[in-house]
Order: sequence, then structure tokens, then C-alpha cells
Amino acid sequence: MSTHILALGRSSFGNPANKGHLLSNEDAQALLNEWVPNERLRLHMKQVGAVMKAWALEREGADELTARKWEQAGLLHDADWEKYPDSHCRIIIEKLEELNVDPEVIHCIASHGPKYFGVEPENTMDKMIYVFDELSGFIHAAALIRPMRYEGMDVKGILKKLKTPSFAAQVSRDDISDAISRINTPLEEIIQFIIDHQKDVQ
Ligand SMILES: [Fe+2]
Repeated sequence: MSTHILALGRSSFGNPANKGHLLSNEDAQALLNEWVPNERLRLHMKQVGAVMKAWALEREGADELTARKWEQAGLLHDADWEKYPDSHCRIIIEKLEELNVDPEVIHCIASHGPKYFGVEPENTMDKMIYVFDELSGFIHAAALIRPMRYEGMDVKGILKKLKTPSFAAQVSRDDISDAISRINTPLEEIIQFIIDHQKDVQ
């Protein structure tokens, strides 16, 4: 992430009266297409959205609305990154507040990089977006250099690349360790989950 990013300077987001209100899938997709011309960044956001949704359904026993909340936070978490790198993620937060989106979705987006935005992950959704964000991008970078992409990819290979500082050097290993230290699931299990759930996202 850009080192120029300023902390958000607040810890409360959205309006509690908007609880349960999400963008329609079509509107979320349209926002993504309009704000993020870069196809690779768009794919990253779709992958994080898909992994978040799958985790909510499979591991948290979430109902449909809750799973959509997780998905929407993942899908939109970097929406302002390309056009406003120095104001990431303030701009998308303000946009979602204006659109009356559920405050939990906005807080989740605000807490996806505590070191940068100054917002601590509180609930499980917050903690998981922090866990998935960098790792998802890292695993995709690993897939791109394999002839068979995700096919036959294993956890061991990813762990080895994490220990190789020159591979995807921009991915902060410190952020990954910090994120993992906040949850009760081992890194290996998270890596396998990401491989399984983002391989078919297009
Ligand atoms: Fe991201």
C-alpha cells in the first residue's frame, strides 16, 4: 500500500439505521466497473469477495444476508485504490456512507489495514478481511507464475514463497502474521481455503 496513506482519524462509520442495507449485486458490480478500470485489481477484489462469502457460509454458519455483507465488503474494499491512492480507503467509505450501506460493511472495509487506516478489526468479519486481503493477492501472484495456475497448487509451496522475501516483495509478511495472530485458525488452513475458493473466480 502507498506509504502516503493517512489514517482515517475516526472509528465510527455509517449510520446504525442502515443496518441490513446493502447495494444490490448489480449496483456493487457497476460501482466496481466504474471505479476500477484495472482488470487485475478488479479480479483481486472479486476474489476477496468470493473468499469472504465462502468463509461466512461455510465457517460462520451465516445466513444469506450476512454472507452478502461479507461478500460486499470484500468486493469493494479497494474500490478507491486505483483512482485515489493517497486517499484510500477514505473515498470509498464516504461513498458507501452516502449510499446508506450497512455500517458493519463500512467498518469492515475501514479495518482491512489497521496499520495504515488506524482502525482496529473488531468482529470476525473485520478480522477475516484483514487475513484474506494480502494472502489472496499473494496466492494469486503465485498462481500466475505456474503453468497450470491453481491446479495442483499446495500449501507447502505457498509457505515456501512466503519465506522468500524477493517473491511478491510488496506483500507485507508482517501484515499477514499480524492478521493471523488475531484469529484462531492456522495459516495453513487459511491458505488452503483461499486456494479452494478463489481458483475459479473470473
Ligand atoms: Fe486488497
